[in-house]
Amino acid sequence: MKNTSFFQVIQKRRSIRSFYDKPVEGQKIQKILKAACLGPSARGLQSFRIYLVKDRKKKEKLAHAAHEQQYVNAPLLLVFCTLPAKIKKMMGVRGENLLSVQDATIAASYAQLAATALGLSSVWVGNFNEKSTQKILKTKLRPVAIIPIGYQKNGAGPKKTKKTGEIVKSI
Ligand SMILES: Cc1cc2nc3c(=O)[nH]c(=O)nc-3n(C[C@H](O)[C@H](O)[C@H](O)COP(=O)(O)O)c2cc1C
Repeated sequence: MKNTSFFQVIQKRRSIRSFYDKPVEGQKIQKILKAACLGPSARGLQSFRIYLVKDRKKKEKLAHAAHEQQYVNAPLLLVFCTLPAKIKKMMGVRGENLLSVQDATIAASYAQLAATALGLSSVWVGNFNEKSTQKILKTKLRPVAIIPIGYQKNGAGPKKTKKTGEIVKSI
C-alpha cells in the first residue's frame, strides 16, 4: 500500500449512522477482524475480545442498551471488550483499568480503518449501558466500544477539527 492511500483511508473514515440492509461479505469481515488483531497491545497479550453479533434480536437489544441508537442494528456489529486477567496479574490495577482498555480501543480503531479501506462505513458507539450490554452478550468481560459496520446510505457533513496547534503542546 502506498503512503498516500493510507492517509486517504484515515481522511475517508467518518462516523456513518445509516446503512443499507446489505450484508457485509464474509471475506471483508475476516479482513476487518484480522486488522483488529494486528495492532499493538500491552506486553503483546491482546487483552481484548471481540464479539461478532449476527443475531438480529440481539442487535435490536444492543441498540436499546445504547440508548436507542438504531444504527447499532447494522449489518455487521462488533463489540470490543477488555480481557484484563493476565495483564492485571503482570501490571496490577493499571493493567486492568487502563492497558486492557487501550488494547481493546486500538483494536476497534484498526477495525474501523480496515472497514473504510474495504469500502465500508462505521461509527464508534461508546454511549451504552455496560451492564445491559454484558447481559445481552452473556459475558462478564467489560464492553468498551460497539462498532456498527455496513454500506453507507447517507454520508457525513464536512469534518471539523481543532487546529493541530490546539492539540499538540511542543515542549
Ligand atoms: C470514544 C467515542 C465514543 C463515541 N460514542 C458515540 C456514540 O455513542 N454515538 C455516536 O453516534 N457516535 C459516537 N462517537 C462518534 C463521534 O461522535 C465522532 O467520531 C465525532 O463526532 C467525529 O466525527 P467523525 O467520526 O465523522 O470524524 C464516539 C466516538 C468516540 C471516539
